[in-house]
Amino acid sequence: MKLWGGRFIKEEDRLMEEFNSSINFDIRLFKEDIEGSIGQAYALKKAGILGEDELNKVICSLNEIYKEFEFGKIKVDNSYEDVHSLVESLLYERIGDTAYKLHTGRSRNDQVATDMVMYVKKEIRVISAQLISLLEAIMDNARKYEDIILPGYTHLQRAQPILLAHYFMAYFEMFKRDYMRFKDTLERIDIMPLGSGALAGSTFPLDREYEAEVLGFKDISLNSMDAVSNRDFCLETIFNCALTMMHMSRISEELVLWCTKEFNFIEIDEAYSTGSSMMPQKKNPDSLELVRGKTGRVYGDLMSLLTTMKGLPLAYNKDMQEDKEPTFDAVDTVKMCISILERVISTIKVNGENMFMACKEGYLNATDMADYLAEKGIPFRMAHGIVGNVIRYCEEKGKALDELSLEELKEFSDVFSDDVYIAIDIGNSINRKLTIGSTSREMVEEAMKIEEEWLKVE
Ligand code: ARG
Repeated sequence: MKLWGGRFIKEEDRLMEEFNSSINFDIRLFKEDIEGSIGQAYALKKAGILGEDELNKVICSLNEIYKEFEFGKIKVDNSYEDVHSLVESLLYERIGDTAYKLHTGRSRNDQVATDMVMYVKKEIRVISAQLISLLEAIMDNARKYEDIILPGYTHLQRAQPILLAHYFMAYFEMFKRDYMRFKDTLERIDIMPLGSGALAGSTFPLDREYEAEVLGFKDISLNSMDAVSNRDFCLETIFNCALTMMHMSRISEELVLWCTKEFNFIEIDEAYSTGSSMMPQKKNPDSLELVRGKTGRVYGDLMSLLTTMKGLPLAYNKDMQEDKEPTFDAVDTVKMCISILERVISTIKVNGENMFMACKEGYLNATDMADYLAEKGIPFRMAHGIVGNVIRYCEEKGKALDELSLEELKEFSDVFSDDVYIAIDIGNSINRKLTIGSTSREMVEEAMKIEEEWLKVE
């Protein structure tokens, strides 16, 4: 039965019915719709619209309906316009006319907005917990590979040696920001729209604050028009998902490169790789490629809803039914990707030997040599020039910096003495870094300790 049949004589066109229906996807709000309806029933009781018996009947039946739904006993019939119509009609089947009182002072506009905020709040909690376990996995790796040294890159060219722990902690910082962003969002969106009616509020004396308490909302909306047409909470959440995906995509890209024969820095566990139907030797990092690939689709979800919302006049417009699929998709995708990435990261095999060997080629200690000269009083710009000349010489001779004799070095500057070899040693290069946040063992240890403490509190 339609919720709005009264003023219509003509039947709805079947294609229109199908076009208009959202039940195929908003069925995912079943739990939230039941909960929201229970909250509404309490508010109606308090306003004197439902009697004590009626309230009990409504709540018992809604709970029963939810249980049946959980056990798969409810047939989701595509002829329902949406989940709200379905729940109302299931309730009517059980308790008759009282079911129809439940919509007093409520519109599907404030109802769906409330369902969606409840859904988003629930999912943010799940994603946050997942991010914490991803952060723990990253921290474990940082600890496990504390002593491994590898080239750090800029422009994907070997730049300076870094600790592998420092690399992992870089991603720790990114995912920590993502976590904080979800937390901020949760704080901001915890506002109940119910009681806003279709757009103008309700004639009935609904105690909205009481209802918010029943439904576990921190606050209630202050403007009914905004409340029914606000989807910022979906957009913010999708944006947070998109940004998290971007970070996951970057580490995925890096690990894909690292497991090539060209790099040979890591091995991806077989459990997260797949083979080729034609080339028997192949072991492909599909898990990471998919994380990278799915990032595009979450960006699409964000653009899709931003675009849907951009031209909408106040207040509710049916366009807003298009909020659901992108929101659900972004949430599903980010959750799946976090789980997969966590598993891939926890099971990689690191080839520390190769990482270290890669630091030997490509003059990664050139900056250290320039710093050495600058420490001896040569202005850095000049030191930079001198080492540039040394590098050119090395390239001609096919030598590394530490393979030059002191006599050879003195040709470029008489400041060079024996201690230069200490300064340009790869391990020393790392530990000579003094600034907070740098890659020296001491500073990385410091950062890890701070973040381990933070993890304990979160
Ligand atoms: N299925 C609708 C949606 O998701 C529910 C709200 C419908 N409101 C209305 N006035 N037709 O937006």
